[in-house]
Amino acid sequence: MTDVVLNINGHEIHVAQGVSVAAAIAMAGSALTRRSVRGAARAPLCGMGVCQECRVTIDGRMHQLSCQTLCADGMCITTGEARP
Ligand code: FES
Repeated sequence: MTDVVLNINGHEIHVAQGVSVAAAIAMAGSALTRRSVRGAARAPLCGMGVCQECRVTIDGRMHQLSCQTLCADGMCITTGEARP
């Protein structure tokens, strides 16, 4: 199976095809996807597109659901980990 290479918060990661962005973030060693308005850490909860806790920035597009998005080669992801 061919690897997909993507960038998460400035770090290159290789995953298998068919892996969701939320899973790739967890495989990279962090569950944090975003921060609340008050800065609290948030992580995927439902895994099926309902809770909105897994929102990340993908290729400059904010508020993308990482649990509903499959990794693609060259994808650039920014999570709440990268923000103060
Ligand atoms: S984990 Fe709930 S919408 Fe993605």
